[in-house]
Amino acid sequence: MGIPALRAEEFRLFLESESGGSLVLPGAEEKIRKKMSILTEQVVVIITEIAKTIEANKQYLCDLDAAIGDGDHGFNMARGFDVAVKNLAEKPSETIGDALKTTAMALISNVGGASGPLYGTLFLRAGGVAKDFKVLNLSLFNECLKEGIAGVQARGKAVLGEKTMLDVLIPVLESLEKSSAEGVLCKKAFETALAVAQECAEKTKEIKATKGRASYLGDRSIGHIDPGAMSSCLIIRTIYDSIT
Ligand SMILES: Nc1ncnc2c1ncn2[C@@H]1O[C@H](COP(=O)(O)OP(=O)(O)OP(=O)(O)O)[C@@H](O)[C@H]1O
Ligand SMILES: [Mg+2]
Repeated sequence: MGIPALRAEEFRLFLESESGGSLVLPGAEEKIRKKMSILTEQVVVIITEIAKTIEANKQYLCDLDAAIGDGDHGFNMARGFDVAVKNLAEKPSETIGDALKTTAMALISNVGGASGPLYGTLFLRAGGVAKDFKVLNLSLFNECLKEGIAGVQARGKAVLGEKTMLDVLIPVLESLEKSSAEGVLCKKAFETALAVAQECAEKTKEIKATKGRASYLGDRSIGHIDPGAMSSCLIIRTIYDSIT
């Protein structure tokens, strides 16, 4: 499900007010689109969509984890996001930070293993950045992701290239920051970031795991996609699918 675009009439009025009259200046449409942002309720919708994607791919993520871990990644993630969605529905979020924090607490409290505390920390730290914001744009998203990644690294002590979720999250952040600096529209920025995420998740096959349960396998971890890298990729895909 996508976030509904601004209705045509609203958009026309918006253009008129921006261009100081009824004349729509060249490039004005793009200028307005760049300003378009995601509200708190829409963030809740996106998190709900993420939960559906994870649920739909639960078995796939477990299969990836069965090859190099204990086969529970899909179940762990689905359980956590299921509780997050229930809690988000029960407790209205005033700000984007509230929605992210509610999600974080559900992940931390309901997901066992490594990924619960790690994804929980990512959402918690991101929520700290967005705590006073009711509108999310690309640059705020990037600040949130940057802080979230710092949290994952502080907690899990992994760096790029150790066959973890970070092998998707770090390149995605770099891609989104580049797009933001170049003034690329949000949807396009996520399209590029999604291509990066898919490529990087696939490339974790080539990496030998040196963190987490998969590291016990040593060289035998090579040849398999990291489940956490794939769940991060699925999250990015859902954000891309959800925004207009
Ligand atoms: N130190 C770490 N830093 C970042 N990500 C990590 C780290 N350790 C593991 N991961 C990620 O967590 C994923 C595994 O998550 P999962 O839900 O299966 O937990 P788990 O490994 O079964 O936990 P446990 O071994 O504690 O039971 C890996 O695929 C990897 O992406
Ligand atoms: Mg596991």
